[in-house]
Amino acid sequence: MSEIIKKYSQKYKKSEEFFTKGGGIIAGSGHESRPQKPFPIFVENAKGSIKFDVDGNRIIDYQMGFGSLLLGHSHPAVMEKVAKRLEQGTHLGALSELELIWGTKVKNLIPSAELVRFTASGSESTLLAMRLARAFTGKKKIIKFKQHYHGWHDYVVPESGLNTDFGVPEETTGTITVLEPEIKIFKKYLEDNTDVAGVIFEATGAHWGQLPLKNPEFMQNLRDLTTKHNIVMIMDEVICGFRVSEGGAQKKYGVLPDLTTMAKIVAGGLPGGAVAGKEEIMSLLNEGTHYKNMYHPGTFNGNPVSATAGIEALNIISNEPINEKADANANKLRIGLKEVLDKMEVKGHVHGISSIVHIALGVEGEYLNEISQVPHSELEEATSGNLPRMIKLAFLNEGIDIMGGIGFMLSSEHTDDDINQTLYGFQNVLSALRSDRII
Ligand SMILES: Cc1ncc(COP(=O)(O)O)c(C=O)c1O
Repeated sequence: MSEIIKKYSQKYKKSEEFFTKGGGIIAGSGHESRPQKPFPIFVENAKGSIKFDVDGNRIIDYQMGFGSLLLGHSHPAVMEKVAKRLEQGTHLGALSELELIWGTKVKNLIPSAELVRFTASGSESTLLAMRLARAFTGKKKIIKFKQHYHGWHDYVVPESGLNTDFGVPEETTGTITVLEPEIKIFKKYLEDNTDVAGVIFEATGAHWGQLPLKNPEFMQNLRDLTTKHNIVMIMDEVICGFRVSEGGAQKKYGVLPDLTTMAKIVAGGLPGGAVAGKEEIMSLLNEGTHYKNMYHPGTFNGNPVSATAGIEALNIISNEPINEKADANANKLRIGLKEVLDKMEVKGHVHGISSIVHIALGVEGEYLNEISQVPHSELEEATSGNLPRMIKLAFLNEGIDIMGGIGFMLSSEHTDDDINQTLYGFQNVLSALRSDRII
């Protein structure tokens, strides 16, 4: 038996018990990024960069609410505001001023936001943006790029890195075209097809930059071509919004889309999302503005508790050097991880933009202006198969929880100690992988 799995089973005994019990209650593990074999961990509480599981293990967290917690877990100012809000009601069944303040914060930070609409998640945001693009242009097709992830709804499943499109009808996927993220291919497709409503893309490149875009030229070229062909450019900033700069990728790279999809950081660690963009498109949601208006109800749209957390988080991001701190932490981690690889004589590549870090083992290559120059095919191969799963378990054996692929989401709350412990842990991870003959 693998030594990594043996150690994991000992360290996370109670999680295994919970998981076994959960087999008769929860279908699957509740979230596709948690199916972690032989069992996932169960966590009880978290503060700053640290979380504690049901076995009492102290874990340095690099999942950070799947990217929602740029300010770390349980930020005191956010917690205080949310606690006060909870005494005043969790659902008002009406608009509240909070939604206006939240919308203003989004407008102030996101350069292309003329009007904002709140949703309850990132998947709802991408679904809404795609419907807006179709309603605005009267056309049917949406282009997405290979491996780009935009949530779990039917329209974004094709070639998104999810293992299966089981249950999604061809009639639906037939309205989506998946292209390689290459501008020549995109240009040719627009020249040959007149039924395109819009294009959606992850502004970091697929899977929060695991397969990076050739920024910013690619995005600027997309902008130019979408303008020329009158199609709607949807920048998916669910993960990179407020992270890669306080104004997201569009501010960092100076490319303004027609519509932006957001979630995660926008709601300060609570459930929530948003779509923002050009008034002429967003006003399709205004009753009576157009000959038809678009329907978008949602029980938890603009929820006051999420709004409260979102307002406070965006306030802090606007007024404090949060992005700078998180970026500096990620930079230390990237440099340190590469040094460990070299010291341990393991071939590998470390990359990622701003506060995001990715490792690709077995490949080497340049990392220029935050962009990995390694071909996507090599990066994809390096992060697929059994290796990411075993690395995740080996890191957990060191009390460190990483994201899928082989990735890390940094926050402003990670400390030098966390990073030093992670680098020390990485040496043990590589040794364990060697002992198990995985590398
Ligand atoms: C770029 C991107 N778009 C959309 C989504 C979907 O968001 P949610 O999980 O809130 O539905 C995600 C989630 O990770 C994402 O990373």
